[in-house]
Amino acid sequence: MTPSAGRFITFEGGEGVGKTTNIQFLADWLRQHGHEVVTTREPGGTEIAELIRDQLLKAHHDEPMDDLAELLLMFAARAQHLQGLIKPALAAGKWVLCDRFSDSTLAYQGYGRGVDLSMIEQLKRLVQGSLEPDLTLWLKAPLAVGRARASGRAEVTDRFEAEQDAFFQRVEQGFEALAREHARIVAIDANQALPGVQQAIVQAIKTLEPSL
Ligand SMILES: Nc1ncnc2c1ncn2[C@@H]1O[C@H](COP(=O)(O)OP(=O)(O)O)[C@@H](O)[C@H]1O
Ligand SMILES: [Mg+2]
Repeated sequence: MTPSAGRFITFEGGEGVGKTTNIQFLADWLRQHGHEVVTTREPGGTEIAELIRDQLLKAHHDEPMDDLAELLLMFAARAQHLQGLIKPALAAGKWVLCDRFSDSTLAYQGYGRGVDLSMIEQLKRLVQGSLEPDLTLWLKAPLAVGRARASGRAEVTDRFEAEQDAFFQRVEQGFEALAREHARIVAIDANQALPGVQQAIVQAIKTLEPSL
């Protein structure tokens, strides 16, 4: 049997909505259905990209991080991740499930920080070329729900989680706008119990890949 082509699925959404939880669920589900799966995350995913991640998420530096520097570091990590992990895995016929990708850059650095969107799009083209996710699962839940869930986690608060509500409201408006713009982005109601979220995710995957 010839292996089916690799698929690139990204998970997007605010803090604590369930991206990491559901990426693991989908990876298990796809493996049970006979697919090879790689799970990864952004920023990060390879040794060098993870080093960049550490600096991007570190809660405190003695100087403020410049918005443009932040944006370029995101894309530097992404370039490394694409060459070192995502493209080779897709070429080998694997499903790549990625926790955040360029939509987060547009939502956080663009809508959140106010960096010019067309400049981000230019950098995106430079780094990704024509590569886009086959499907983006946007986990959507009210800010307060994500906040409450995230506060239950053991992880320390990172530089983005420390932002104010107004920032996260702009980020959410960013995801809304992106979802209107791109058919590959499917909104998943994450403001419900986990089995319902997972059912919606499986439904979206079956729409992408009717043989599943
Ligand atoms: N639908 C859900 N209902 C209740 N709790 C959830 C749900 N989805 C995720 N959680 C819990 O919320 C917390 C944050 O989830 P996580 O997957 O880490 O979110 P993210 O990666 O999007 O920040 C975890 O403790 C997780 O178990
Ligand atoms: Mg997470």
